[in-house]
Amino acid sequence: MARTYLIRTFGCQMNEHDSERIAGLLESDGMEATDDLESADVVVLNTCCIRENADNKLYGHLGHLKSLKDRNPGLQIAVAGCLAQKDREMIQQRAPHADVVFGTHNVASAVTLLDRARAEGPVMEILEESEAFPSALPARRDVPWAAWVTIQIGCDNACAFCIVPSVRGREISRAPGEVVAEVERLATAGTIEVTLLGQNVNSYGRDITRRGPLFSSLLRSVGAVDGIRRVRWTSPHPKDLRPETIDAMAEVPAVCEHLHLPLQSGSDRILAAMHRGYTAERYLQKLASARASVPDLAVTTDIIVGFPGETDDDFAATLEVVAEAGYDSAYTFLYSPRTGTEAATRTADFVAPEVVAERFDRLKVVVERSALARHQARIGRVEEVVVEGSSRKDASVLTGRTRQNKLLHFPSAPLGAGTFATVRVTGAAPHHLRGELVAVTARPRHRSRIPVSAAE
Ligand code: 5AD
Ligand code: SF4
Repeated sequence: MARTYLIRTFGCQMNEHDSERIAGLLESDGMEATDDLESADVVVLNTCCIRENADNKLYGHLGHLKSLKDRNPGLQIAVAGCLAQKDREMIQQRAPHADVVFGTHNVASAVTLLDRARAEGPVMEILEESEAFPSALPARRDVPWAAWVTIQIGCDNACAFCIVPSVRGREISRAPGEVVAEVERLATAGTIEVTLLGQNVNSYGRDITRRGPLFSSLLRSVGAVDGIRRVRWTSPHPKDLRPETIDAMAEVPAVCEHLHLPLQSGSDRILAAMHRGYTAERYLQKLASARASVPDLAVTTDIIVGFPGETDDDFAATLEVVAEAGYDSAYTFLYSPRTGTEAATRTADFVAPEVVAERFDRLKVVVERSALARHQARIGRVEEVVVEGSSRKDASVLTGRTRQNKLLHFPSAPLGAGTFATVRVTGAAPHHLRGELVAVTARPRHRSRIPVSAAE
C-alpha cells in the first residue's frame, strides 16, 4: 500500500502554491494524498509568519501531532514555509518531535529530507536563497482548470510592519520566457485560468533589465497564450503600479477586471511611518485612473488597523479613504508586531488592544457597506462564471466565480467544475452574489484530473 501524506497550509497563495509543489514531489515519490490525519504517514505543516496568530496556530497543531506521534511513532512531521525559515531553532526546541524543518527555498529537497530523517533522525535545512527558481518543480493541483504561476520571489521593499523581506529574501524575477513556457504547457493540459504570483509584481523584471516595463509585457504575453481565458495577478504595490500595467489590463481581453491594491492605511502620517512610498491622495489618483481605463473594475485591498502611533484622526482618515475608494472587499488585519521589523521596536507607540478592536469593528462595517453597495449595483447584469462546484450548504446550488473574482451562487443541475456559464445576478450580499443560470457556454477542456504536472 502506498504511503500517505497530508499537508496543512497557512497563509498566502504563495504558500498554497508551495504546498502544491510539495505534494507534487511527494506524489512523484509514490505517495498518495489523504484527508485522514490519524492514518497519514507524513504530515507537512506549511507555515506562515506574517502575523502572530499564525505562530500560535502552528504550535497548537504541533502539540496535537505530538500525541498522534506518541501513538504512531512511524509518523513523520515536517514543518515548512516562512515560519520554519524564521523560527527554525525555536521550532526544534518547542517541537523536538518534528522530523524535518525546511525553509521556503528548500521545497525541492522535501523528499530527500524526509528520507534522511527516516535514516538519521531529525533534520533541519534552511537555505537563505533559492538555487533554482522553484516553479520548475512538479505541482499537484487541486483545481485542474486554474493554476498559480510564480513570477517572482522575495521582496525588496521595507514596509515597517512586514517580516516578508527578511524571511523570503531579495526580489528575484523569473525569466519571462520561462513563465510563458509554463503557461503554454498548462494551457495545453486544459488550464484556462492562471494567477501570476509575486510579493510585489509591479517591480517584476527590475532585476532582469533596467529597460521596463516588463510586467505589462508579461501580462500581454500570458494573455495571448492560446486557451488561457482568464489571467489574474497579485499583489501589486501601489507605488509601483504603472500606467502600462493598467493599459495592459484594459487591452488584453483575458486579463480579469480585478485589481488588488493594498492601501494599509488612509493616513499620510501612518503611510510615511510604514514607508509605503505614497500618500492617500496619490493612491486614490492611481485608483481613479485604473477605474477610468478598465471598465467594470473590481477593487480589493489590505488594511492594517492599529499600526504603532495610529491616532483616532489617523484611523478616521482610513475610514474616509475606504469609503471613497469603494472597495468590493477588503482584508482587514489587526497590527501584529513581528520581531525584527522596524515597527515592532516602537513599543511605546503600540495602540491599546481594546482601541484597536473597536476600530477594527468600525472598519468592518464601512467595508461591508461598500461591498454590499458594489454587489447590489450588479443586480440585473449577466456575468460569465467558471463553475467551481456545488455550494457547501445546498447541493442543488452551484458556485461559480466571476471575472471580478466574486462568488456567484445559482440553482442548477450539476455542471462539471471548470464549466463556463452565463448567470444573471438577482441578489447581493457583502461576500457573494446570487443569480439564475442563463446558459452553459463551454464545457471544461481540462483532463478530468491532472495528477502531477511536471513543469519541466
Ligand atoms: N500585522 C498585520 N498585518 C500585516 N500584514 C503584513 N504584515 C502585517 C503585520 N505585521 C498584512 C498587510 C499585507 C498583508 C498580506 O498582510 O496588510 O498587505
Ligand atoms: Fe511586505 Fe511591503 Fe514587501 Fe508587501 S511590499 S511583502 S507588505 S515589505
